[in-house]
Amino acid sequence: MPIAKPADGCYWTRTATDRPFPTLTGPLEVDVAVIGGGIVGVMAARLLKDRGQRVAVIEACEVGRGVTGRSTAKVTAQHALFLSRIEERHGQDAASCYAEANRAGVALIAELVARHGIACAFEPAPAIVYATTDDGAERIRAEAEAARRAGLAMHLTEDAGLPYPVTAALRLDGQYSFHPVHFVAGLAATIPGDGSHVFEQTRVTSWDDTGVETARGRISARRVIMATHLPLGQVGQFHAHNAPHMHAIIAARVDRASAPQVMAISADEPKRSVRSHRDPDGAAMLIATGPTFKHGDADAEVKAFADLEAFAAEHFGAGEPVFRWTNEDYTPRDGLPYVGWSGSNGDSPLVATGFDAWGISNGAAAAAILADLATGRDNAWAATFDASRHSAKGLGTMVAEGLEVAKDLVGGHLAPHSGNAREIKPGKAAIVEIAGRATGIYRDESGRPHAVSAVCTHMGCLLGWNPVDRSWDCSCHGSRFATDGAVLHGPAIEPLEAVRIEQEEPA
Ligand SMILES: Cc1cc2nc3c(=O)[nH]c(=O)nc-3n(C[C@H](O)[C@H](O)[C@H](O)COP(=O)(O)OP(=O)(O)OC[C@H]3O[C@@H](n4cnc5c(N)ncnc54)[C@H](O)[C@@H]3O)c2cc1C
Ligand code: FES
Repeated sequence: MPIAKPADGCYWTRTATDRPFPTLTGPLEVDVAVIGGGIVGVMAARLLKDRGQRVAVIEACEVGRGVTGRSTAKVTAQHALFLSRIEERHGQDAASCYAEANRAGVALIAELVARHGIACAFEPAPAIVYATTDDGAERIRAEAEAARRAGLAMHLTEDAGLPYPVTAALRLDGQYSFHPVHFVAGLAATIPGDGSHVFEQTRVTSWDDTGVETARGRISARRVIMATHLPLGQVGQFHAHNAPHMHAIIAARVDRASAPQVMAISADEPKRSVRSHRDPDGAAMLIATGPTFKHGDADAEVKAFADLEAFAAEHFGAGEPVFRWTNEDYTPRDGLPYVGWSGSNGDSPLVATGFDAWGISNGAAAAAILADLATGRDNAWAATFDASRHSAKGLGTMVAEGLEVAKDLVGGHLAPHSGNAREIKPGKAAIVEIAGRATGIYRDESGRPHAVSAVCTHMGCLLGWNPVDRSWDCSCHGSRFATDGAVLHGPAIEPLEAVRIEQEEPA
């Protein structure tokens, strides 16, 4: 099935109320500088302000519209089959800690929504993980046992509340869904004042243990929290310890009666994750995501959307999606997020990454850990999530652990196309060789070409095209760039170089 409308945008960011924050206009001093205005950065800043700290959230783009604002936005401590996997790899204490941190993360979000009266469609919904095969049912039962040992009150049920047969299902009540941009931006709006600030359109370009530099001035700080989803540049080498993955997401109108009453995720492949949302006009929306694909693999992306849309139409009667978008996260190499000091010396930036598509509740727990560490308090979960634990292991271990990161450096999976820029049709893109350089050319609907270097500014991998979001994406460590070269997602910090191409007649 071809993608009829290739760039309709993300439902959450397109339906978010505009709530702009100022840009930085000059030097400033705070106690804690927080780089990144996603769920981790904004929640950490709020918790720090509650302790009397002066904070500055510094957001390169717009608050809440990064990975958080492009997620399926389930606020749940049930993460598919994570507890059995964590228990197997790290032992029962680690699984109990993970369960407790995420249960507390959900409760913290609920408490902040209530305390600050944040209008973010915060609705109760049970979470379900279900199987459709006998093997999957076995794994669901193992997860039920692991959840029992970890103290998370899940129960096996015959009734998954889904319109297709399942072989087993595990349910966790008392969970929520929300509008992620409204939550993060609404919480951010409570921060400015009494020496605290939130800045947008202010990109951090460098940092040290005395603060951060931006193109718009320096912010001095006693502590720096880098809440940029993946730490920037070479910080802690986290890019080599987390495998990036991309997903297709759709928002499609469905009949109210067909909208799922549960937030469900499959234990079997192909991965399916669904939830409902009520549009402001009262219409029921199905939010659904599917299996992973590699950044910049346009064919796999087209297939992922076609497959997801067919599933949504068959089982939920969904029509043509109103919105299509992609989103990414990182699988940490040993299965646990990395939260805390990025190095072992205690003056490196504090970081949080490796949420493996469960960074809402994990992100809330991470914010609590970061706020404690930044203010010298003990935190009961910090040792389990310790971000510096990976420094003892090398890349050899990573390969043994089955992660495919840190490869595809220059000459990676997409060979430069040798064709002519004129062959690129409006709305399409390709990598062509110009003066010996791999150049990414996107021709907009009016026929105007936009040409940039197709070499990632992080570590030199060749980029690939994302046809739905119209971005240049890097399969090595997940950086993403707009068609004008601007950084959309790190670890890259520098934009792609613009490339001049010969004047030409529109194709
Ligand atoms: C398809 C998909 C669905 C998901 N669904 C769920 C779900 O239902 N439930 C769940 O728990 N999790 C889900 N997740 C995971 C979750 O959304 C993320 O793990 C989490 O939102 C990450 O939050 P964050 O604050 O770390 O990152 P972000 O929200 O990306 O925030 C980081 C911010 O840092 C900013 N930034 C980057 N570089 C700079 C710089 N140099 N200077 C200043 N600012 C900078 C970015 O612009 C961005 O706004 C999903 C993930 C995917 C991929
Ligand atoms: S993100 Fe690391 S090379 Fe592109």
